[in-house]
Amino acid sequence: MAEQAAAGLLWVTAGRLDELTPDSAVRVDLAGLPVCLARSAGAVHALLDECSHGQVALSEGDVEDGYVECWLHGSRFDLTSGVPTGPPATVPVPVYAVRITDGEIQVALPAPATDIETAAGTPS
Ligand code: FES
Repeated sequence: MAEQAAAGLLWVTAGRLDELTPDSAVRVDLAGLPVCLARSAGAVHALLDECSHGQVALSEGDVEDGYVECWLHGSRFDLTSGVPTGPPATVPVPVYAVRITDGEIQVALPAPATDIETAAGTPS
């Protein structure tokens, strides 16, 4: 289910909070956009599920203390900002706003990526 957010953004349901284990990540496809949904340090975060160094899935990395570590070469990304803390990655990964409504995780996506109404996915 999708709902209009601020200009240029659309809130898309990504799954349920109780299905996302603390210090873990899952990949969800939202309107064709691969999103890494991670729960850590008391919050849920959403970022593009693609390392900016080698284009592998960040959702397959380890999550701890508000960071996800790329499984391939070890760069750690701040889940709040998407900024890598060290090499080899040097470019931030796009992050998306998250809100929890009645136990549902909703992610604000850029409108161009959400022009398909049946955008919702669920963590697997
Ligand atoms: S592919 Fe992620 S750090 Fe190299």
